[in-house]
Amino acid sequence: MELTIIGAGYVGLTTGAVLAELGHVVTIVDCDRRKVDRLKEGIMPFYEPGLDGLVSDQLRTGRLQFENEITITNQTELVMVCVGTPPNEDGSPDLGALTSVVDDLAKQLLLGQIVLTKSSVPPGTNSWICKRLSDAGIREMDCPVVSNPEFLREGTAIEDTRRPSRMVFGIDDRLSLAPRNELLERLYELYRGIHSPLLVTNWEGAELVKYGSNAFLAAKISYINELSCICDAYGADIRDVSCGIGMDPRIGPDFLKAGLGYGGSCLPKDLSALAYCAESRGVTSHMFEEIGSINERQMLAYAKQFLTEIDTERSSKINTEQKIRVAVWGIAFKPETDDTRMSPAITFMKQLLAWGVEVHAYDPMAIFSAHGLYLHDDPYAALLNADGLAVVTDWPVFAMNQVNWAFVKETMRGSVVLDARNIYHFGHLEKYGLIPVGIGRPLLQHQSIISEMRGNS
Ligand code: UGA
Repeated sequence: MELTIIGAGYVGLTTGAVLAELGHVVTIVDCDRRKVDRLKEGIMPFYEPGLDGLVSDQLRTGRLQFENEITITNQTELVMVCVGTPPNEDGSPDLGALTSVVDDLAKQLLLGQIVLTKSSVPPGTNSWICKRLSDAGIREMDCPVVSNPEFLREGTAIEDTRRPSRMVFGIDDRLSLAPRNELLERLYELYRGIHSPLLVTNWEGAELVKYGSNAFLAAKISYINELSCICDAYGADIRDVSCGIGMDPRIGPDFLKAGLGYGGSCLPKDLSALAYCAESRGVTSHMFEEIGSINERQMLAYAKQFLTEIDTERSSKINTEQKIRVAVWGIAFKPETDDTRMSPAITFMKQLLAWGVEVHAYDPMAIFSAHGLYLHDDPYAALLNADGLAVVTDWPVFAMNQVNWAFVKETMRGSVVLDARNIYHFGHLEKYGLIPVGIGRPLLQHQSIISEMRGNS
């Protein structure tokens, strides 16, 4: 198939490269000329494991190309819209880029070309696209519109695209059987070679599967984070509680890791957008707002606890006049990405800076600048004379056995280590004279046992 993908972000770029790998001829269009020029040379606009290799390979086959402007030819069978829908101040998604793409397409679409929306959009958007095209004289039966939301995660985008958890097609429920089946046949052809469960629904159903999934993931994280505060209050270990809850197959173990909260460009944005959509149709929902508030609270609560622990240690020392200085490991919103959008690490650091703390940060990929923040290109350099270390993003290089703890202790001035992703064994850190603080973890460590009951009499 020949297709045009509009938008060279995580979704457009990864989907385009994987579809080219499957044998399709793909043109990816992006309005950012510099980005396009660099992509033509195989230079990625962001860090995503394996993507540079895949794009370069597909460029060499000639099946993948990049353009700066949308040019639909009569060879084009399908146009995939993958532009960003960033949040406005009021939580609603900004559909400006999408609108200008649709208006551009309205001038160029030819009979039989499919418009497929991958951008995350509010319910009603695909219906609106169809109406906008039809106002420009393009009938739905000539150029069908399909909602095909994307579920890939940054950091594992290629794998998620090759083996998606599910495929959702939202199509116009007014289509009669024959054109509907013909459309589905062409969509199967597009994803030939990709195996996954499939759901076919109407436009609004598909749009809400996307928002609803991200909001649910955010809810799971806020739920476990709220529970972590109760664990702190009662001396339970959130890792055990989470493990026990996740053993129920109705709940499942994923997305139950307590931490500093969720970030990224998707969960926070889609949650706000869903809340906005509910409200704009008069549906009262307190839950979505609360999920976001718990997330915010989590980042600030642990920034406060970190500082309290540092203050407690410093109060036992003689020279406490010096400005508090801390090291933060991790800036990206999660490992294996350089994306810092809505990163909990940044909210955490900004709070410390607002309290007058000097912050020295290190991340293997991400960068960020703020007044009073010092960036380092070595994790141990950030530690020099620090009163505390906060490990906020669980990059593999920060794993328990990757860190030289003796050197950490030697380099720091204080001993507090905030393990904001619960990745360390406290007993091990204590052996080096460090004072570990976790998220929902008791001071007295215990031995958890996970095994099998055999039930033999
Ligand atoms: C998310 C969804 O997981 C994807 O399915 C979706 O396609 C994507 O948004 C999107 O809409 O484009 P992503 O933003 O890449 O993917 O990140 P996640 O892996 O979902 O992680 C989000 C945040 O939750 C991270 O900050 C992570 O550290 C945090 N998290 C995750 C936890 O705090 N605890 C957990 O147990 C899991």
